[in-house]
Amino acid sequence: MTYVVTEHCLKCKYTDCAVVCPVEAFHEAPEMLYINPATCIDCNLCVAECPVEAIYAGEEVPKRYEKWTKINAEECEKYPTIAEKKPALPDALTLDQWKEIDAKSS
Ligand code: SF4
Ligand code: F3S
Repeated sequence: MTYVVTEHCLKCKYTDCAVVCPVEAFHEAPEMLYINPATCIDCNLCVAECPVEAIYAGEEVPKRYEKWTKINAEECEKYPTIAEKKPALPDALTLDQWKEIDAKSS
């Protein structure tokens, strides 16, 4: 199993998750972070850190975000790892804004 970064990270990238990861499993792409399934030890620490609830345990990824499991696995190795806090992207959304978007698209 592995943990997965999903849609809510896109264009937000708060990076709080990367700080708590004990094994540097996060990789930083321009618009979001990805978790490397080969590195993640399933410790669950990152889930509570994300202010927009973007991270799920592999078997708990909601159906609408299923594609992200494959995307994390494929994309992570293309980018360097990240273990420090950086400023969020300038137009980062709040959890309430994401919930509105989710409600409209479901
Ligand atoms: Fe890192 Fe643990 Fe999150 Fe995996 S579950 S990415 S090991 S903090
Ligand atoms: Fe993304 Fe949340 Fe981490 S927005 S960078 S998964 S804290």
